[in-house]
Amino acid sequence: MSKRTCLAIVLAAGEGTRMRSARPKVLHQVTGRSLLAHVLGAVRAAGMEQAAVVVGPDSDAVAEEARRALPKAQIFVQSERRGTAHAVLCARKAIAKGADDVLVIFGDTPLISAETLKRLRGAIDHHASVAVLGFRPKNPFGYGRLIMTGHRLVAIREEKDASEAERQIDFCNGGLMALRGEVALEILDRIDDANAKREFYLTDAVTIADKMALEAVALETTEDEVHGINTRAQLAQAEAVMQQRLRAAALEAGVTMIAPETVFLSADTKFGRDVVVEPNVVFGPGCVVEDNAVVHAFCHLQGAHVGKGASVGPFARLRPGTTLGAKSRVGNFVEVKAAEIGEGAKANHLAYIGDGHVGDGANIGAGTIFCNYDGKNKHRTEVGKGAFIGSNSALVAPVKVGANAYVGSGSVITDDVPAGALALGRGRQVNKPGWKPGSAKKKPAARPGAKAKKRTKR
Ligand code: UD1
Ligand code: CA
Repeated sequence: MSKRTCLAIVLAAGEGTRMRSARPKVLHQVTGRSLLAHVLGAVRAAGMEQAAVVVGPDSDAVAEEARRALPKAQIFVQSERRGTAHAVLCARKAIAKGADDVLVIFGDTPLISAETLKRLRGAIDHHASVAVLGFRPKNPFGYGRLIMTGHRLVAIREEKDASEAERQIDFCNGGLMALRGEVALEILDRIDDANAKREFYLTDAVTIADKMALEAVALETTEDEVHGINTRAQLAQAEAVMQQRLRAAALEAGVTMIAPETVFLSADTKFGRDVVVEPNVVFGPGCVVEDNAVVHAFCHLQGAHVGKGASVGPFARLRPGTTLGAKSRVGNFVEVKAAEIGEGAKANHLAYIGDGHVGDGANIGAGTIFCNYDGKNKHRTEVGKGAFIGSNSALVAPVKVGANAYVGSGSVITDDVPAGALALGRGRQVNKPGWKPGSAKKKPAARPGAKAKKRTKR
């Protein structure tokens, strides 16, 4: 490992008009994580010592997300959008601190890997003063073209400024650039806006380095990695690429997926070994599934912890704050939110378990509802170990059902049930022996539309 220090500058000042969104572009998400958080995640994983994020004016939300994703990131504001080099120079103070290497990354390229960041930085380590990440896109239109003389990169020509011959070049600029720290400011300060867009192009650093007799090089990567997001269609493409990667990693880690292409993961989804995920399952952010658990078809999980050997679904919904104990079972049409289900406990059909705790080995019958909301506040329901909640019961929180207690089917439980007790909270059944249709006295049926008459004597 080199002992050189590195400053990563992430440009996130794009207005993102083509997203047609009220949300800043870099805050759109792929695999449940913002574009900016993906990029900063790579910066962190690559072990960059310092980081700066350049945001647009009135971008408090972007600055906040940057601080959340990478607390040590310094935030700089670019108040006017005057080009990529101008944006980099907004972080002048950070550059002036004198890191050995400066790495510029666009905030809208979420697929970039830590390895590639390190590789680009490594190029500076060895010989060059400027290193650029190139790729060969299927359609080079719109990208800056890399003009090479042998192994030397001599210029990057933006589409709008390129000659017909230069437009034939298929080796393009992926947007990332590494600069030798000691010459970075000198190079950047020499960049002007004499081009078709009247912008300060970062890409001009290459020609300037060449004029200063410094070497510039280009490394190559795949199109996927430098896929930039300008439109919702590109956002969906990035999602597809990343889902593919996450599925491959899950399979590699020992998860069985019958139809992986139908399973949707989040960047932070964690799996143990020998987990089975059936088709059409969606994992939102914050899910952990431990060894030997099975998630049956058509489940939706978010912020949920599934314990060892537990079984979920088919058709279950686990919302944030759900913890399923080892070997517990949550079956079809069961929704769980902010609740722990104990070891070996079962809620096999049609239930809502919200804001509660279900003890080990308890059974929650079909149609049980934890009535957690009184219209104003949420309250908790506690079901003790080994308790049995009969079908179609309503547990009106706050309420506690003791260990091994038994709640009769169809009960509405508003008072605590002591341990070991039987609770019945329902109308008593009445049987009328010898009943025949019509044997009960009936009122004469009112004619439709007739006004209610005074009752006559019978
Ligand atoms: C840029 C490159 C081009 C490359 C392409 C790869 C330049 C001049 N051109 O073009 O060679 O092929 O990326 O995708 O660098 N930004 C700011 N402030 C600004 C301008 C831009 O923060 O004033 C940020 C944007 O938010 C974005 C990034 O810099 O994240 C790139 O800017 P963009 O305008 O998208 O550059 P491209 O025209 O795509
Ligand atoms: Ca772009």
